[in-house]
Amino acid sequence: MTTAPRPVDTSTGSITVMIGIPGAGKSHFLKGEFEAGRMDNILSLDEARGEFGVGPHDQSVTPQAVDHVVEQAGILLDAGAAVTIDATSTTVSDRRTWLDLARAHDVPARAVIVRIPLKVALYRNSVRQYPVPTEFVCECHHRVTNLTDGALLAEGFAAVSELNTQFRGGQA
Ligand SMILES: Nc1ncnc2c1ncn2[C@@H]1O[C@H](COP(=O)(O)OP(=O)(O)O)[C@@H](O)[C@H]1O
Ligand SMILES: [Mg+2]
Repeated sequence: MTTAPRPVDTSTGSITVMIGIPGAGKSHFLKGEFEAGRMDNILSLDEARGEFGVGPHDQSVTPQAVDHVVEQAGILLDAGAAVTIDATSTTVSDRRTWLDLARAHDVPARAVIVRIPLKVALYRNSVRQYPVPTEFVCECHHRVTNLTDGALLAEGFAAVSELNTQFRGGQA
């Protein structure tokens, strides 16, 4: 199976799924893209958790947060929008949520992997207002380290790319 990037038709909507461990820089990158006017319709699972629970780290409301983001994404896709999902998405089952949504709306799903050294992510996590458990960061890192383009294409993504983030130290 080829893992070379393939053109994806996004003229009638698409889902871009960020894949990266907590602290990888997903939200930071997306904020920059939004502010530069290059990207719109960014849906954050952390933000949804913050709305339903006590904060972005509140895993007890993850099911409601996921339902909410799926609903919002569905509305946007119905309108022909390109939607980006800001969540860790390091497991097959997490990604299936977005792949099922893409399939239900007959739009392509793209995966964007954000890789980062574990120690950078652990430092960033440690200075966060709402740190996630260290073990969770390590588990996610293990999964992302072992992730291949081929596996993501086999899951159903139409295209896979990697984001090269510039590290300017622990915090921005
Ligand atoms: N390219 C970067 N250079 C410097 N700091 C960054 C960079 N990307 C992210 N950060 C910082 O790292 C921390 C975690 O980034 P964040 O985007 O929230 O990670 P994620 O959304 O993947 O969990 C934030 O304090 C952010 O400002
Ligand atoms: Mg984030």
